[in-house]
Amino acid sequence: MRKVYIYKGFERFWHWTQASLIMFLALTGFEVHGAFEIFGFEKAVQFHRVASWMLIGLIVFAIFWHITTGEWKQYIPTTKKLKEQVFYYLFGIFKGEKHPTTKTELSKLNPLQRMVYLSFKLILIPMTVVSGIFYLLYKTIDQNNLVVVEEYPLEDIAFWHTLGAILLIVFLIVHVYMTTTGDTPTSNIKAMLTGYEDLEDTPIENESPKNIQ
Ligand code: HEM
Repeated sequence: MRKVYIYKGFERFWHWTQASLIMFLALTGFEVHGAFEIFGFEKAVQFHRVASWMLIGLIVFAIFWHITTGEWKQYIPTTKKLKEQVFYYLFGIFKGEKHPTTKTELSKLNPLQRMVYLSFKLILIPMTVVSGIFYLLYKTIDQNNLVVVEEYPLEDIAFWHTLGAILLIVFLIVHVYMTTTGDTPTSNIKAMLTGYEDLEDTPIENESPKNIQ
């Protein structure tokens, strides 16, 4: 095993800030929805709007970071060892079997994680954010006295936004469970906090970006 600096400073900042904002948006959003009362409706709306602008800002920086560092390549989907990975999570893990894939700096995500995180980035987050922006601008009058968004029924916008919110909560629950399936139950969380993780020694040729695991 060797200690590897796997999660860079910005990556950890972005990960935990995004997680906190999503949890806060879920809390305030479902209060707006009428599921419970914590801050009061008016304050919940206000907090939800401020946090949503913060999330949009964070996403802009995260897109820039993924492109400029080349980290976006970590999310290129692959079917290689995908079946083995699914079977591992369904059965192997409960029998104490070894992980079917090896984690390296150049291939941090297993094939299932690549697929799930890519869908998160390209479908779930855009669906929630775009419907949220439509919600935000609905019937807003701009400087030219034009209504910004009105051609879509508000019920449709609310439907997609609420569906996105529910799926994000499901993702969060499954994600937290999955983080406990590393070498030890806390090794993945510690790595995302400190940046460092103990990884198996792998032959150099295994670290080629082409050898996606
Ligand atoms: C950039 C992202 C987001 C934007 C721009 C946004 C915007 C909005 C807006 C404008 C509303 C209507 C209430 C109001 O006028 O403030 C709303 C409602 C809501 N938001 Fe968001 N939101 C975002 C992200 C999220 C996230 C990440 C979640 C949950 C994980 C969430 C959950 C909800 C829920 C549950 C409602 C109530 C929907 C309803 O009952 O119709 N939002 N959002």
